[in-house]
Amino acid sequence: MEFQRQTNRRLYEEHAATVQLLARVERVFTGRAGAYPPLADDPEWRAFARALLSAIEVEVARHFEFEERDLFPRLEEAGDGDLAALLNEEHVTIRAVAQSLADLLRRAFAGGLQPQQWQAMKTLALEFSERLGSHAQKEDGALLPVLENLLDEDTDRELFGAYAAG
Ligand SMILES: [Fe+2]
Ligand SMILES: [Fe+2]
Repeated sequence: MEFQRQTNRRLYEEHAATVQLLARVERVFTGRAGAYPPLADDPEWRAFARALLSAIEVEVARHFEFEERDLFPRLEEAGDGDLAALLNEEHVTIRAVAQSLADLLRRAFAGGLQPQQWQAMKTLALEFSERLGSHAQKEDGALLPVLENLLDEDTDRELFGAYAAG
């Protein structure tokens, strides 16, 4: 997909990176990337769990905040309030699942989980993957094309600059 606006290009790239991470999440939690549950001190598991935790706490959090603060209100003003509300609701649900998943990941780090907690973590991880994957796809198909028309060059530069600077 080709976007004129750098804000859109960045979001599109981040969605693609997320989809890749989610493919890995599905492999790990369904036991296609090594035994699941893993041994608590398995270095590959620990590296993966650390990366997933950081994606939840840093990348996804930052991406969601940017959309909610700087993009959804513009959508609303432009008359696309329904889409903004839908995407916003999905953020709320995904955040709740992500928080529970992050809690279990942290507890897994801190000294292992009971068998039923490993099962609960698998269920949460697959739900997280399903919901976030379809959310990213929906934004690629519906949000980014609308934004492409909505953002003028100056606004795009300003938004992207602030986002890229963190
Ligand atoms: Fe989003
Ligand atoms: Fe997004």
